[in-house]
Amino acid sequence: MSDKTSPIGVLDSGIGGYSVARQVQRLLPGEDLIYFGDGAHIPYGNHSEEKIVAMARYMFRFMEEREVKALLVACNTISCVMDRCADTVSCPAINAVQAGADAVAGLDVEKVGVISTVFTHNTRIYPKKIKERGPERLVVLSCGSPDLAKLVEHSLGDPRGMAEVEKSLRLELGPMVEREKIQCCVLGCTHYPLVTGSIHRLFPGLPLIDPAEEMARGLKADLERRGLKNETGKPGGLTIYTTGDVEEYALRARQVGLERVNSVEFYPPMEIL
Ligand code: DGL
Repeated sequence: MSDKTSPIGVLDSGIGGYSVARQVQRLLPGEDLIYFGDGAHIPYGNHSEEKIVAMARYMFRFMEEREVKALLVACNTISCVMDRCADTVSCPAINAVQAGADAVAGLDVEKVGVISTVFTHNTRIYPKKIKERGPERLVVLSCGSPDLAKLVEHSLGDPRGMAEVEKSLRLELGPMVEREKIQCCVLGCTHYPLVTGSIHRLFPGLPLIDPAEEMARGLKADLERRGLKNETGKPGGLTIYTTGDVEEYALRARQVGLERVNSVEFYPPMEIL
């Protein structure tokens, strides 16, 4: 049974969810966070739906066992299959895709771009959700990259890797920005907000929408509504679990500016047959 001092769960296929944990630490510094990154199986976006659902359910169960009071599904790819996973946890789950679509709803724009994994792109979930709430004339363009999430995962701070990241960004985003003249772009994969510096340099002046900000705001509102905000007055800590490389996860946490990391621990990955 969770209470005000229970932790908040944040999960992703990799380190992408760090972009969400970072926003939560800024907005709700008193909350304890548990992070799960499934580094052994990244990129999720290239797996089948059945596998994504199975791997996501494994992580959801991990969070349920730790009695989190809210769960942030900080992976757009998993957010696409929420209806097949959400029954695994008893707490409210806030997902990245809904947050991204909600963030667009308040904007006065006619042409929006979305960049995501191939899986997210193929579901057409963003265009559908954004158009549900937008005006009739709103055009939503989407593109999916097969390797950008994984490239970001392993390239932060490495000039050669970052050159590959920028090559991939140019390839995917270039046509939407230069030919289609999108007025803003939703970062529909949580890894991408970790390289906004590169995106701004390649496409100066392009407004970016990071669903992480909306997720953190949604979480705050949810905790206030349920009377579950941590009010002990102590700064909250962050415990990171990964099925991947513990040292790499610790390094990336420092690189992206995560604070108060208690520990980074290995957790056995789900076996995929
Ligand atoms: N950060 C995940 C997302 O938001 C990346 C998915 C993947 O592993 O392909 O979709």
